[in-house]
Amino acid sequence: MKVVTSVTTPLITGFVPTMGALHEGHLSLVREARKQCDHVVVSILVNPLQFAPNEDFKAYPRTLEADLALCEAAGADVVFCPDAAAIYPENFQTRVIGGELTQRYCGQTRPIFFNGVLTVVNILFGIVRPQKAFFGEKDFQQLFLIKQMVKDFWMPIEIIGMPIIRESSGLAMSSRNSYLSELQKQEATCLFQAILAVQEAVKTGERDIQALLDLARSKISLEIDYIELVSVKSLERLTGTLLEPARLLMAGYIGDKPRVRLIDNGLVTA
Ligand code: PAF
Repeated sequence: MKVVTSVTTPLITGFVPTMGALHEGHLSLVREARKQCDHVVVSILVNPLQFAPNEDFKAYPRTLEADLALCEAAGADVVFCPDAAAIYPENFQTRVIGGELTQRYCGQTRPIFFNGVLTVVNILFGIVRPQKAFFGEKDFQQLFLIKQMVKDFWMPIEIIGMPIIRESSGLAMSSRNSYLSELQKQEATCLFQAILAVQEAVKTGERDIQALLDLARSKISLEIDYIELVSVKSLERLTGTLLEPARLLMAGYIGDKPRVRLIDNGLVTA
């Protein structure tokens, strides 16, 4: 607990929006918010607006009791866990529609996803009114689009991106990893292997983007949804020669019942 005796600086509220089924990735955000802010609010809401009808809204893991204990241990002051009906009452009408980037990369197979995310994050910002909000870099495109929304709408909120937290195997932590068997978790580490291989190739001088993407593909045994090298600054797809800091973004499918979609990414600097 922080004891504040001075009123010369305004108290800062830090916010960590989540969909629950919390893991170390989420908790690293809560701990960072605790370090940087006076009040820490975590929200838990499986947001129906960001799931297409064929996706896993119903099956998405819900572990509220465990989540509350984890939030408390990580230093949250308030956990806001509304019903979807409280956020989207019957007369709810307004949605955030992001730009064309919402339809690329993950948005190609999940066209409604980012608009659902931007809408709920906008609503939650209005309720919590944080000065700082914390998001993981695991969904790099989401983080980018939220920063863009905050800029476009002149929201007085600092968006803080935090590094991906991985299992010791290299698998990026995700609530959806609970769908995987131990064997599948092992197989899914190929996404991280692809990132390491590309980072290593760049370190040893490879700059040809097609060669780097081919290398990444050759490491991945999952059914690949997409792999791209994108500009860190603009999220534009890069082609030709690597001349600027890039993010290798990827998504793949593993398993059959359920067919699980996993994402991962890593920084690639020339
Ligand atoms: O990253 C997530 O968990 C969700 O997309 C978010 C940002 C909490 C919005 O529902």
